[in-house]
Amino acid sequence: MEALKKQAGIKAAEYVKDGMTIGLGTGSTAYYFVEEIGRRVNEEGLKVLGVTTSSRTTAQAEGLGIPLTSIDKIDRIDVTVDGADEVDPAFNGIKGGGGALLMEKVVAVPTDHYIWVVDESKLVDTLGAFKLPVEVVQYGAEKLLRHFAQKGYNPAFREADGQRYLTDMGNFIIDLDLKKIPDPIALAAELDTTVGVVEHGLFNDMVDTVISAGKDGITILEKKEK
Ligand code: 5RP
Repeated sequence: MEALKKQAGIKAAEYVKDGMTIGLGTGSTAYYFVEEIGRRVNEEGLKVLGVTTSSRTTAQAEGLGIPLTSIDKIDRIDVTVDGADEVDPAFNGIKGGGGALLMEKVVAVPTDHYIWVVDESKLVDTLGAFKLPVEVVQYGAEKLLRHFAQKGYNPAFREADGQRYLTDMGNFIIDLDLKKIPDPIALAAELDTTVGVVEHGLFNDMVDTVISAGKDGITILEKKEK
C-alpha cells in the first residue's frame, strides 16, 4: 500500500513546473508528493512557492526547505495535489480523514488544476462507506450532534488521545456514519446551510485529475468536460 501511495505522489509531482505556486495536501499519500517536491527543490533547484493545508504539512515542507507563502498573499494556485478518502465516478469525493478538510477546501477553491492522489481502493461507485467528516464550531456542538442523530446520520465526535479531536482551526469534527450517500450534492447543500457547520468533507466535482495507483500501475482519470 505504501508503495502505491508513493508512486501516485511522485507521479503527481510531474505536474509541477518552475515558477508555480502549488498547494501542498495533507495525508499519507500527499506526503510523498511533498517529499518529491522537496527533493526537486534541493537537488534540481526547482523554484516553487507552496501553500500548505495543515500544520503537519507546514512542518514537513519547512523541514524540506520548500519556500512557503500564505493563502492570504496569493490570488491563484497553479496546481494543488492532495489525497482523498473516497472518489466516485462523477468525481465527487470525501476528504478529511486526516482532519484537514477546512484548510484543504480553502486551498482547493482558488486552484487552477486540482489533483488527487489515491491508491485504487479509494475509487468507489457510491460515497459513504467512509465516515463523512463535518467540522463544527465548539459552541453548540453537542446540540448539533443530537440534530444529526435525529436525522439518522449516526454521528460521533472524532477523538484523539481520549479527547475530542481539535482541528488546526480549533474546531471539532463530527464523523457521520452514513454507509451510502446516494445524493452527495443534496447532502452538501444541506450541510452548507446547517448553522454551526464550518465545513464538510464532501468535495463535489472539484477535482480535475485523479492519479490512482494500483497493482497494475498508475491510472490517470480526467474530469469529463460538461
Ligand atoms: C486529510 C485528507 C487526506 O487527504 C485524506 O484523508 C486521504 O489521506 P491518506 O492519503 O492518508 O489516505 O483529506 O484531511
